[in-house]
Amino acid sequence: MTLLSPQDMLVVHGGNPLHGEVRVRGAKNLVSKAMVAALLGDGPSRLHNVPRIRDVEVVRGLLELHGVRVRDADGAGDALVLDPANVEQAAVDEINVHAGSSRIPILFCGPLLHRLGQAIIPDLGGCHIGPRPIDFHLQALREFGAVVDKTDAGLQLTAPSGLRGCKLDLPYPSVGATEQVLLTAVMAQGVTELRNAAVEPEIIDLICVLQKMGAIITVHTDRVIEIEGVPRLGGFVHRPIPDRIEAASWAAAALATGGDVTVRGARQVDMMTFLNGFRSVGGAYAVDDAPDPEGGIRFWHPGGELRATAIETAVHPGFMTDWQQPLVVALTQARGLSIVHETVYEQRLGYTTALNQMGATIQVYRDCLGGTPCRFGRRNFTHSAVIAGPAKLNGADLTIPDLRAGFSHLIAALAAEGISRVYGVNLINRGYEDFEAKLAALGAHVDA
Ligand code: EPU
Repeated sequence: MTLLSPQDMLVVHGGNPLHGEVRVRGAKNLVSKAMVAALLGDGPSRLHNVPRIRDVEVVRGLLELHGVRVRDADGAGDALVLDPANVEQAAVDEINVHAGSSRIPILFCGPLLHRLGQAIIPDLGGCHIGPRPIDFHLQALREFGAVVDKTDAGLQLTAPSGLRGCKLDLPYPSVGATEQVLLTAVMAQGVTELRNAAVEPEIIDLICVLQKMGAIITVHTDRVIEIEGVPRLGGFVHRPIPDRIEAASWAAAALATGGDVTVRGARQVDMMTFLNGFRSVGGAYAVDDAPDPEGGIRFWHPGGELRATAIETAVHPGFMTDWQQPLVVALTQARGLSIVHETVYEQRLGYTTALNQMGATIQVYRDCLGGTPCRFGRRNFTHSAVIAGPAKLNGADLTIPDLRAGFSHLIAALAAEGISRVYGVNLINRGYEDFEAKLAALGAHVDA
């Protein structure tokens, strides 16, 4: 299966409201981690509602290189069965085919150390939204007893005396570092205490996966997670939480284009902070609590003017950084001055240049413009923005810089008057399943 469109460019005829229904499936940021967790089991695991996106393909490829048998359970591409019975060390040159393609490979460290006593990790990829260091990951792995060598071929890790539980305190509640600790601590000897952990819904869902496998994990208040290592884990059967980033992206597209989109599969509980922001801007929504596949959330523009608002991104339960870019496109249509303070990534406002070329008025600042001074203040990172609206957007030639910014470019092109050529659309396949078909179903005028 290829997820790449031969053109890598879309011609978008903007100015038409999106109307209709789309479906979101399992969250990219859980599915890929649950696939890695399957490495730890001594039996097969089954993961349902798996989206066909490139990040899943990359992880699948890397698992297969390490001897995990991965197959579609039902032929319909909905469920994956992952069988780690014959896990083996992969060849370095094969692993490096995946260099630069995703950030998930860093999470193979703990599971491979447990299974093989060594791990080779290719150079990481992912979106260019800041330096994205892995120092918390490596520090934690060293505390567990891993020896880490940085080589030209990537990272090489060994654990000569095995992995032992430890006390860790993250400098920042990093999602990836928390997952790294969970995936390593579950089979390390003894107890691990992790302070300042991230507690995003995708992490809680990963904890559910690990618990199904036999792990003993307690989530205390105040971001403390305690993990009691066990000697063996079994497989799991799991239905992931829905993709709340994709759901918010379609919601923002509905609002920015003056449309009405029902996102089947979206759940209120995962999106409460987004829903507050959406309503503050003047968007309307209605929650249908029926279980998947019937349930979902309808998002629409109720008419009249949108209102300016202030958004500060933060770790859970704050406003997700990944919701920021799509919603800012809608904010270009709101009357007054909106303020965005991005506190998770240093460089997640670069995409505003393209919006300005289309007619938006967005000024970016180094200062912390939100209520809470953040770690990027006075460090030369343009991480705050003021958006003056409403602005008439006009079609333009756009090149997609990263996944979420890419989808925002697309929303802007759909909201703009006239024709836009959007280059680099294959990047969007990393995290949005069948987005071209979904756009067509919503009545978007888009040609390859
Ligand atoms: N950080 C460090 N050192 C580390 C790890 C993180 O300084 O060792 C910093 C990062 O540079 C960043 C902050 O901590 O400034 C937060 O990074 P985090 O580790 O939480 O992010 P991540 O695990 O790399 C995941 C998602 C991102 C999402 C963030 C925040 C995946 C594969 N990626 O990234 O999703 O934005 O958490 O919720 O789960 C996306 O889906 O497009 C995406 C970028």
